[in-house]
This record gives sequence, C-alpha cells and structure tokens, in this order.
Amino acid sequence: MKILRSPAAMTAWSEGLRREGVSVGFVPTMGALHEGHRALIREARLRCDALVVSIFVNPTQFGPQEDLARYPRPISHDRAICRQEGVDVCFEPTAEAMYPTGFQTTVTVPAIARRWEGESRPHHFAGVATVVTKLFGMVRPHRALFGQKDFQQSVLVQRLVNDLNLGVDIVVRPTVREQDGLAMSSRNVYLSPDERRRAVTLYKSLQAGAAAIRTGETDAKTVRSAMVRVIQGEPAMTIDYLAVCDPITLEPLPTVARKAVLLGAVRLGTVRLIDNMLAAAKQVRRHP
Ligand code: PAF
Repeated sequence: MKILRSPAAMTAWSEGLRREGVSVGFVPTMGALHEGHRALIREARLRCDALVVSIFVNPTQFGPQEDLARYPRPISHDRAICRQEGVDVCFEPTAEAMYPTGFQTTVTVPAIARRWEGESRPHHFAGVATVVTKLFGMVRPHRALFGQKDFQQSVLVQRLVNDLNLGVDIVVRPTVREQDGLAMSSRNVYLSPDERRRAVTLYKSLQAGAAAIRTGETDAKTVRSAMVRVIQGEPAMTIDYLAVCDPITLEPLPTVARKAVLLGAVRLGTVRLIDNMLAAAKQVRRHP
C-alpha cells in the first residue's frame, strides 16, 4: 500500500489509472477507523479496481468549542486496517496542503445544511462540502462511498455532486452497529462505561418511531412523541433534536405517507451522539 501525502502525487496516481481504464474507488475518512469504515472499504474494494482511502481530520468542519484537538488519530491502527482490506493508496494530506496560504474558496449547500446538524454546528457542512469537493478534485474517483450514519452529510454530498456536476458516483451504505444497536462512530471512545451502556437509548428511540410507522401511524407528531418517550426514560440523556423527515429534502413531514427518515441527536454527558433510521409507511391495500 502506498502512503501519499502530496495532493499532486495523489492526482497523478489516479489520472494514470483512469487513462488505462481502471476504475478508482474512494472512501474519505477522518481516520480512527472502525468496523463501519471497514465495511465501506470492503464494499468499495468489490465495486472498484483501485481503491483510495483518505485520512484527514478536517479542521474546517469543527466548531471552535468542538473536539478537533482531542479527535482520535491512531494512524498506525488506521494504516493497518487499510492494508488488511487491500487499499491501494492511503492519502494523508497535511492541513497546510489542503488549506495553503491564500486559500479562500468555500462550497455551501444552504438548504440541506440549514436544519438539524446545521443548527447545532453552523459551519460544519460548509467545511464538509468544501473538503469533499477538494478531495474529489485531488483523488479524481469514479465512485465514492459514504456511511448512512451521517445521513444529512450523505444527502448533502449527493446534492453537491449533482449541482456541481462533479461526475462521481455516490454510494451510501447502511450504518454498522454494535451488538446492542449503538451506531459505530469514532467518537464512541469518548463514552465512559456507564455512558456506553446508556447510549443505546438513541437507537431504541429510533426503533420506537420506525415501529410506529410500520404498524400504521401516519401522524409525524405521534411518531416523534413515541421517540421522545424513550429518550425521556433515560435521565442522563438530553434531546438535541428528534425529527421525522423527508429522506430527500430533510424537511419535517406532517404525515408519513410513504418513506421517512427519523433523525436524532442527543447529549450524554459531554458526548453528542447522532443516528438515524429509514422507515416506510404501511401500505394500505386498495380493493378494485
Ligand atoms: O464523514 C467524515 O468522516 C467526514 O465528514 C468526511 C466526509 C471525511 C469529510 O471530512
């Protein structure tokens, strides 16, 4: 496996392969790789001839009070996972290479970034949209894989690629969960053993909402109340948001007629957890 740090070297490598008709797959990450990343890398390995994983803790997507300084950076462990999974290039650009002196262009996706994560983290999605655009420019992939765990991010990336004609096929893969249902996340290491035990409540709340929809509830307020009740049963947890939304626009739905995404963010001590679940309304049989 090659480790490349220079954007120019990264582009030269990819362009060389593209000219030969080799398909280039890409999994962008901030490192601290876990089983969720491993599943994305494996899927990319199956779908593409050559595979790049980037490891870059992007400073512009962290707010001033957020965890940029303490974000885990276990680089040897991350490279070992990439080697095990047959990654061809681990792209590890420096912050100076990504944001050199004079850098000033940013990319925004205003409507999708406004709500939910965007409310708690006002600059987060501009940071994500900008770095993803830059990484696509450097890696020149045919296809890039993202996890459903960051649902709003995956919708934003799809919008970005369509709006700016970036020509990258976006694949979103299901969230990988711990045995009890907690969504895997690099930030789970911040949970104390007691918090870790309690953290599954967010998943249970989403399950309660999805079950209500599955069994015929169409009123989004009632679905949301079912989710809220579960979180209220865990006194250590506070709700940042719980929402029943359209999976494409991420706008809140008044009624669930077809598909919905249940979005949730909670705080547990100093840790903020996010998760989501897709749900489909019960189909009513129409007799001729
Ligand atoms: O999901 C992530 O790890 C990051 O937001 C991404 C897409 C690598 C951009 O920094």
